[in-house]
Amino acid sequence: MSAPIATIRRIAITTGGGDAPGLNAVIQAVTRAALQRGWACLGIRDGYDGLLRPERYRPGDGCIALTAERVEGIASLGGTLLGSTNQGNPFAYPVCQADGSTVLADRSQDLLDALAREQVDALVAVGGDGSLAIAHRLAQRGLRVVGVPKTIDNDLDGTVTTFGFDTAVAFASECIDRLHTTAASHHRIIAVEVMGRYAGWIALHAGLAGGAHAILLPELPFDLARVAELVRQRDAQGLSHSIVVVAEGAHPRGGERTLSGPAEAGHAERLGGMGEQVSQALARLTGKDARCVVLGHLLRGGSPSAFDRVAALRFGAAAVRALAAGQHDVMVALDGNDVRPVSLADVAGRMKAVPLDGDTLATARDLGLCLGA
Ligand code: F6P
Repeated sequence: MSAPIATIRRIAITTGGGDAPGLNAVIQAVTRAALQRGWACLGIRDGYDGLLRPERYRPGDGCIALTAERVEGIASLGGTLLGSTNQGNPFAYPVCQADGSTVLADRSQDLLDALAREQVDALVAVGGDGSLAIAHRLAQRGLRVVGVPKTIDNDLDGTVTTFGFDTAVAFASECIDRLHTTAASHHRIIAVEVMGRYAGWIALHAGLAGGAHAILLPELPFDLARVAELVRQRDAQGLSHSIVVVAEGAHPRGGERTLSGPAEAGHAERLGGMGEQVSQALARLTGKDARCVVLGHLLRGGSPSAFDRVAALRFGAAAVRALAAGQHDVMVALDGNDVRPVSLADVAGRMKAVPLDGDTLATARDLGLCLGA
């Protein structure tokens, strides 16, 4: 984890995988903290594409010099100044063949060579599980790397939370608030599908905050007969609408997850469609009118919440402090009230699911919410 403190003159930063509110705040913090130490800071466009596919950019524009002026005022902006991709793993990089097919090639050495040509002494890699696993492999190849945990899904191990999650949950719960009134007016069931991949953090937190009546999580395979029973009980009490939050990775007991599209080369499978299935099945089981609303990428957009801005700024500054202290192959993580480095080897590729014995799930049960299990 610690290396002899070598002189750093120039660092690079990359943002990879699905974007999350707070990425620009990390870029601002890394840039400012680097400049304060007299280091230059280079932003790599679109994951590592700016270095691996420079021909896609205007000459010299695959990387951009991050100056104080360039990062001024960006902490409140959603998205990422640098762009991102989830098809840019340098160890399995999609390469087009003459016949139009795509093969995955190991281009990690090309990346290390390009970083050396750019005189980059260390890298800050901002990303989710996939990007941090890549960062760890690059560190094993000798690059000085510090990871920053990003994802709206909050499914990264080793950190209390990731930035992006709070903004996604706030927006989802506002949407659920709005759906209550229209569902109540029409005496309907509304299924609200939210992102989160194989973890139910967004569904659980947004469902609780938004006063949902049922929440279906990937961690608890569901039986829709239980949700239909809840709907009937509510009807019997004169409560004629029900809101069911469905995590995109949720699935029935003994059933499969739903995929929204075919897997492409170098791309993780795309989840989606379970909300519609739940809505149609509940309409059949209860005889009620039902609708589905998919929040999808809306959860990734917009301005980061104050919590996410501060978390992202803290993570970015901590990443630079870690490099200055000679640490590498680490991820900066929220641990209690402090941000500390943890070994990338211990966290890369490890998913953090909603704990079945945790107090948030116990809260949902104590409030009488239906978890379909
Ligand atoms: O990991 C973040 C996330 O938004 C997931 O919640 C979702 O399944 C996935 O990314 C969607 O990715 P894409 O950008 O490929 O649609």
